[in-house]
Amino acid sequence: MQIEPPPQMLCVPAGLWLRPPKPKPGLSRQCLSSDLGCCGAEGLLLLCPATLMFPLPQTPTGRPGSASSQDMDSAYGDSLQGECLRKPDRKQLKLYGVGDPVAMFSSDSSCLSSRGRVSKWFWDSAEEGYRTYHMDEYDEDKNPSGIINLGTSENKLCFDLLSRRLKQNDMLHVEPSLLQYPDWRGHLFLREEVAKFLSFYCKSPAPMKPENVVVLNGCASLFSALATVLCEAGEALLIPTPYYGAITQHVYLYGNVRLAYVYLESEVTGLNARPFQLTVKKLELALQGVNSEGVKVKGLILINPQNPLGDIYSPEELQEFLGFAMRHQLHVIMDEVYMLSVFEESLGYRSVLSLERLPDPQRTHVMWATSKDFGMSGLRFGILYTENQHVATAVASLCRYHGLSGLVQHQMAQLLRDHDWISQVYLPENHARLKAAHTYVSEELRALGIPFVSRGAGFFIWVDLRKYLRRGTFEEEGLLWRQFLDNKVLLSCGKTFECKEPGWFRVVFSDKENRLHLGMQRVRQVLARQPQVVDEASPCHTQEPSTQSV
Ligand SMILES: Cc1ncc(COP(=O)(O)O)c(C=O)c1O
Repeated sequence: MQIEPPPQMLCVPAGLWLRPPKPKPGLSRQCLSSDLGCCGAEGLLLLCPATLMFPLPQTPTGRPGSASSQDMDSAYGDSLQGECLRKPDRKQLKLYGVGDPVAMFSSDSSCLSSRGRVSKWFWDSAEEGYRTYHMDEYDEDKNPSGIINLGTSENKLCFDLLSRRLKQNDMLHVEPSLLQYPDWRGHLFLREEVAKFLSFYCKSPAPMKPENVVVLNGCASLFSALATVLCEAGEALLIPTPYYGAITQHVYLYGNVRLAYVYLESEVTGLNARPFQLTVKKLELALQGVNSEGVKVKGLILINPQNPLGDIYSPEELQEFLGFAMRHQLHVIMDEVYMLSVFEESLGYRSVLSLERLPDPQRTHVMWATSKDFGMSGLRFGILYTENQHVATAVASLCRYHGLSGLVQHQMAQLLRDHDWISQVYLPENHARLKAAHTYVSEELRALGIPFVSRGAGFFIWVDLRKYLRRGTFEEEGLLWRQFLDNKVLLSCGKTFECKEPGWFRVVFSDKENRLHLGMQRVRQVLARQPQVVDEASPCHTQEPSTQSV
């Protein structure tokens, strides 16, 4: 089929669109609508940030998820609307933003309180893709034309190992205390095991202490609890973008806490620089900008290993970021939920708990869960490690609503104490399988000539599909995402991660070979139908440096 070039493109052979040296300015502003479904799988539809604060805007603005052009302005600035970001004009790029998750809020659920309406709105506007997937899940035998999910960050590679371990006799134990109300921080026997586990697997310089541990049902709850106990309503937590987008919801729903974005760019500016690299300078500039808008920032969220970049921070970078936080008296929430999913050993990943000295231990709070590293996102087990007893106690108080069954606490203690199984059976096999799956998908991407960022941690590859967007807008990104979904493969698009540059997608590779194979085949089919843009004036190819990819 012959595809007509858009007016501002010149058509060249081999299905490429050639961008003229000077793209036309002032392309019409596009609204991001939920219909475009820029959805992440474990997250929600992230809408354009604006500067409104809780309480809710009173005027309904159409369907959940629709955004006005005014909202887009406040988020990205006029200059970026509809423009290609291949070569961002650094002067025009805003380095920070303050999110308002309910700026486009609309709800007619009059039976609900304003909080209830927000809560429902999040549900309604989130995850078109995820919901579509659950109605039409791929199954080799029962539904071979169903949707392949390369969008949800789950490790589906090791169920055989896990189920064998979880079925062993030591897992089933019942005694009265396990059926009674527990210490809300978690049973002491479990917190002792968690402390030993962290000491060993985080290589802490001194033994971790059970009194600094709180256990609860996953990192999502912990984000919610920490935001609530550390911030007043309307205050903000700084976070580098792109980031695991559901945190917006986690910190907002109970705590009414917002995120302040530190926008990172793909462009590599220095010799040893990486795409989307965080620096203290960027943190400083963003903090200044957010403060200048009158928004109080209470803390910094760091995800290490990073989701969606699959990148890690070096110990030196960690020290610098922690030092920045200390200078500004910010709390640091360290999300290390992927800490044992670093399958490229040469990366030399270090947990923050391994550092010889924390600049501000009273304001450093570490989270981890079994959701990712043990492929048990449905089991709901997470932990907080903090030396700050006020924070530990305040979070523990909320654990009355986020607590774990005594029987699960017993199981988790058994699992975490079994260092032999973890170190000799589970982790080596899990890493080998992750690595093989990663190799397969990255080779597919290379064969397609698609640049990507990935360093050997986590379950995902951050893929640069900007050349498939003619004008480089989020609207086009959403349309491309929809084409993938229509072709029965679910991916997560960059908007979901509050990525500043339209055209990035996250591809999850931690799945079985047959599903990966079919998923990538469907991705390829969509891209083959898609014309490509060659940016003659400013070819800004995201590099895949040799140290970056494996
Ligand atoms: C970086 C990050 N933190 C936290 C979570 C949520 O973890 P949990 O399932 O333990 O609530 C996720 C899930 O995708 C994640 O990617």
